[in-house]
Amino acid sequence: MGYTLTILGCGVMGQAILSAIYKAEKPTDVAVAELYPSKIIACNGDEPAAEQVAQMIKGYGESPNGIVVESAFGNNREAVSESKVVILGTKPFLVETVLDEVKDVVSGKLLISIAAGWTIDQLANYTPPVSRVMTNTPAKYGYGCAVIAHSAQVTADQKKTVSQLISHVGTCVELPEKNMDAATSLVGSGPAYVLLMIESMMESGIKMGIPLRESLTCSLKVLEGTCKMVEESGTHPSVLKHQVCTPGGTTIAGLCKMEENGVKSGIIKGVEEGAIVAAKLGKRK
Ligand SMILES: NC(=O)c1ccc[n+]([C@@H]2O[C@H](COP(=O)([O-])OP(=O)(O)OC[C@H]3O[C@@H](n4cnc5c(N)ncnc54)[C@H](OP(=O)(O)O)[C@@H]3O)[C@@H](O)[C@H]2O)c1
Repeated sequence: MGYTLTILGCGVMGQAILSAIYKAEKPTDVAVAELYPSKIIACNGDEPAAEQVAQMIKGYGESPNGIVVESAFGNNREAVSESKVVILGTKPFLVETVLDEVKDVVSGKLLISIAAGWTIDQLANYTPPVSRVMTNTPAKYGYGCAVIAHSAQVTADQKKTVSQLISHVGTCVELPEKNMDAATSLVGSGPAYVLLMIESMMESGIKMGIPLRESLTCSLKVLEGTCKMVEESGTHPSVLKHQVCTPGGTTIAGLCKMEENGVKSGIIKGVEEGAIVAAKLGKRK
């Protein structure tokens, strides 16, 4: 029972996905349980990375799903040969080298790619069933977001497998592939943009005399609480924003000063710039 899943390139993102799947609770529904691998092979380029993954898994203890992890390096062909599903987690510039190496053994298998910029058409040269996933680092804690696009050759059962495995990174959103470069910036790079916001808010507190720890706590809770308020109220962010703007008050004064400094257009242009660079990634040799 069960199948083998290979993660080709198990670095920051590969480990986030590996951790999320490894630590997933055992499903009570047998049909859902069958969507999980019984073995995951984490492949890296060098020994230190392989050792790091092995230590990480050791630290987790046993998988609730009984998943066994083998961490290795220099074994891409053997790993892919034994697998039914392959997650591609190398940097975009290594994708061609890594896929060329396993070309004959990956053919016909489900390929789930998290590599930015590599299109379904490009990846389908190696195997027809391709699912492109763009996720982010909060996946490691189960609070990630994943945008998924499938090739026409991905079967309904394979889609279920992708959804189930990727669901552990957090919230999944299915979109047409044309939105993937935008998703790469908004979702993939998004945590860095939000961290900049957290850092700025925290430093504003420090500048005005609030100690670092308290300033960080306040900044984090403001962000977390605001996200929950938008989600739970279902109200448009602009409406909620105007609800806290007392005429002549502090909030509108702060917002106008931010606008003077181009905060909103800076964020929009920054996210767009990320998408422009993402679109070029798969074309780099
Ligand atoms: N980091 C993010 O926030 C983020 C967000 C969204 C999407 N992504 C996408 O996720 C992908 C991976 O990014 P990452 O940040 O996780 O990169 P990373 O940490 O550098 O991980 C890539 C892994 O690939 C391994 N590798 C290199 N050559 C290999 C080979 N020939 N065979 C097998 N494995 C090999 C590396 O192992 P060695 O160190 O041993 O060489 C490394 O552990 C990228 O395509 C990126 O576009 C990343």
